[in-house]
Parts: sequence; C-alpha cells; structure tokens
Amino acid sequence: MKKISMDDMVGYCNQYGFIFQGSEIYDGLANTWDYGPLGTRLKNNIKDAWRYYFIQRRNNSFEVDADILMNPTVWKASGHLDSFSDPLMDCKECKTRFRVDNLLDELDSEIHADGMSMEEMSAYVKEHNIKCPKCGASNFTDVRQFNLMFATQRGVTDTTTNTIYLRPENAQGEYVNFLNVQRTMRAKLPFGIGQIGKAFRNEITPGNFTFRTIEFEQMEYQTFCKHGTDEEIYDEFKEYGMNFFKMLGLPGEKLRFHDHEKLAHYAKAACDIEYAFPFGWGEINGTHNRTDFDLTRHSEFSNRKLEYFDNTTNEKFIPYIIESTYGVDRVVLAVLFESLAEEELEGGDVRTVLRISPKLAPIKLNVLPVVKKRHGEKAMEIYNLCKRHFMTTYDETGSIGKRYRRGDAIGTPYAISIDDETIEDGTVTLRDRDTMSQRKVSVDELIAFILENTSFIE
Ligand code: GAP
Repeated sequence: MKKISMDDMVGYCNQYGFIFQGSEIYDGLANTWDYGPLGTRLKNNIKDAWRYYFIQRRNNSFEVDADILMNPTVWKASGHLDSFSDPLMDCKECKTRFRVDNLLDELDSEIHADGMSMEEMSAYVKEHNIKCPKCGASNFTDVRQFNLMFATQRGVTDTTTNTIYLRPENAQGEYVNFLNVQRTMRAKLPFGIGQIGKAFRNEITPGNFTFRTIEFEQMEYQTFCKHGTDEEIYDEFKEYGMNFFKMLGLPGEKLRFHDHEKLAHYAKAACDIEYAFPFGWGEINGTHNRTDFDLTRHSEFSNRKLEYFDNTTNEKFIPYIIESTYGVDRVVLAVLFESLAEEELEGGDVRTVLRISPKLAPIKLNVLPVVKKRHGEKAMEIYNLCKRHFMTTYDETGSIGKRYRRGDAIGTPYAISIDDETIEDGTVTLRDRDTMSQRKVSVDELIAFILENTSFIE
C-alpha cells in the first residue's frame, strides 16, 4: 500500500472537494484554506462527535457560543497581551524570519526547545553554528519575542485606545461567562463549559497544510473544580482525550502523550496528545491545569467576584480550571491521514479509498440504479427516503464499478444497487466500502443498519 505524503493529501483534498486553497482565484492568501462540501461535512461530524462526547454525555456540562471580539481588558487580564509570544530570529543575510523553537526542534527532535529560555536558544544557535535553512548562512539576529494576537481597530479613528483583538483562544469566552452559566444552570462544582469556535494567531511560520494556520477552529472544554480535586480531573481528561481520539478511529500506536517542560504563563501542568503525521509527531490536543489563575485575574481586572459558594461547607472560593482543548483542523487532518489509502486490488487494479469511520464519513450511503432507464425511478424513491435519515447521494452515471470507486474515494461506507429484484421484492444489494462484500437487505433493514453503524452512541 502506498504511503500518503503531504503533497498527496493536499492534492486529494483539492480533487475531491475536502479543502481548497483560500482565495484561490486570486492566487490564494498564504496558509489560509477553505473547506469544500465534503471537508465541511467531515468537520461538522467531528464537531458533532465532540458535542456528543463532551456536552451530551457528561454530567453538568454546558455549551456556550461567545463572541470572537472581546473587551481588550480580557487579554490584559489573561496575560496574552504581555506574554502570548513566540521566540523569533531573522537571518541577517537573506532576511528570512524563523520561529526558533520550531527550527531547533526540526533540526534535533531530542532537544525539546519549548523548554528553553530565549537566552538558552540564542546560545544553542551560536554554539551549534546553526545554519539558515533558506540560504545556508550562520548569521542570525538575537532571539526576541513576537506577540501572536491579531489587532484591529474599532470605530473610525486609529488610536491605540480603540485597539481590539481577534481571540487567540476560545477559553476566555468560557471564563468570562463562568458566573452567568453557574447562575442560570444552577451548576454545582465540578461542572464544565465548552465551546467550538474560531481562533486567530499571527503565526510567523505557519505550514504543513492545515496543521498550523493563522485562522483555525478549536473545541475547548473547561472544567471548574475545587482546589485539591484538580490533579485527579487533569489525569482524567488526559485519558478522556485519548479515548475520544480512539472513538474517532485514530489508533493508539499513532498517538502519544507529551508532557510539557516549559509551561504557559497560566499553567501548573500541561500535556499534549500528539499524532504521528507524515512530517512527524504533531500536537492535536492539550490538557492544562490552569489553576485559579484565569478567574483570579478576571476578578482583579473586572472588579467582579468570580467565586463559587459551596453551601455544603459554607466556603467561598475561586475555582480551579482544567482545560481540555482540541484543534478541529488538526483532528480533521489526522483523520484524513489515518484513512486515506491507495490499495492494489486482485487483478492489479488500484483504488483510492478513504477508510474513515462510518461515524465521520461525509456521506453515509450512495444509491446506484444498475440500469438508469429501468431502475432509476425506484432508486430515486429510495434515495428520497434515505436522505431524510442521513447524508445520501444518488449516482447514475458511468459503470457500476466506477460508481463504487467514486464512493470509496470519498469514504462513503455503504452503497446500494437497485435492480430488477428491488422492483419485484423491495430488496437492495448493500455493498461495504472496506470489504467490498455484498448482501441483500430490505430497505427498512438498510436504514436501521446505517443509523446504528453511523451513530456515536456506544
Ligand atoms: N486555550 C488553550 C490553547 O489555546 P493551545 O495548545 O495553544 O492551547 C489548543 O491550542 C489547540 O489548538 C492545539 O492543541 C491545536 O490543536 C490547535 N492549534 C493551536 N494553534 C494552531 C494553529 N496555528 N493552527 C491550527 N491549529 C492550532
């Protein structure tokens, strides 16, 4: 079986309508990507899986949809204005700018540059005579910090007092609504607030397709809890994340934990789950013990008491927060890499097949009349019935073999062919994408079977 490279993946996504270059007709805008019809379905299915796993299935779990634009004091309080930055240096010869920790990690995956200070990185670059990957010179500026938030102006005058920011993470929308949710849902600790939404970062070295972009989507989940219970909840969410990915069809051997040495300004402990992409291990999730940092800071800056009153002990305190965060685009990319295959069949034929979990497949069923003139009407009747239950397509052009292949290539797990027997006794031939085996079923059985096999319920 052929190994799928990043170039293969970009080509596949473009050819089959999963992901296109952003603003393509204007030659694009670097590192922006638009999801096409199938990519959008896949992304939505991953978000539905998250909603099922994090909001629906958990106790005391609530979803919000906060605005992207927030009062700028939020970012002062959260620490993002002062310390949400990346270490950068420029090549003095060719003027290319690099994110130093990424550059060092790429050169030597053992050093874990995210644990180094700016001074340590500068010293490492000099001592190891690091060369510019673009021009080969060893002549860099010192390492300095560069803030990642996108700033924009509110109103018509261009003054710093009008500066507002595109959120760099969803989490703050959940923190500033802590009291609102607690009050309206009469929530008792521990409880969770989750959100799915866009985030923006002025990443200086974006790349690897949708893995690192300047606009991306997050699924973030914050558990508010009492100090003392935080470490247990932190451990629970590390495992919960692993199980979530396995439920999406990512195998355990392609996933690993990476505990952080250097912690973000808000964290007491942090651990990523990484997936083995073709370019190396890449973070797709993070679990963070954010302590009471965020709510304490928002209390200070807003002059509002973001406290919880425990009526069993008569105590008032600021809760701790355990964060479990997922990058939607990275999860989509991992699922695509895990599923896409070029398979050689008996007889030497090659088929492109997306062996994606039926739960996530953009289209669940493909309806195919064997002979359009004779079976088209019946096939259309069954298509109209099935599409009320799940995403269904109807395909009448080309040989039946070609139509099966088209469905395989976009990951449609089931196809039915409609023939004379369907007209006589109502049965259809159900074909399985992965095994390519076929069997006869009634239409009622078919609908129940697909609903059961595409459901997240376990
Ligand atoms: N609220 C915490 C937070 O934002 P993070 O580790 O910086 O933590 C969370 O980001 C997740 O968002 C990451 O695990 C990753 O999946 C995704 N992510 C972060 N930066 C990204 C980028 N530039 N492009 C795509 N996804 C990104």
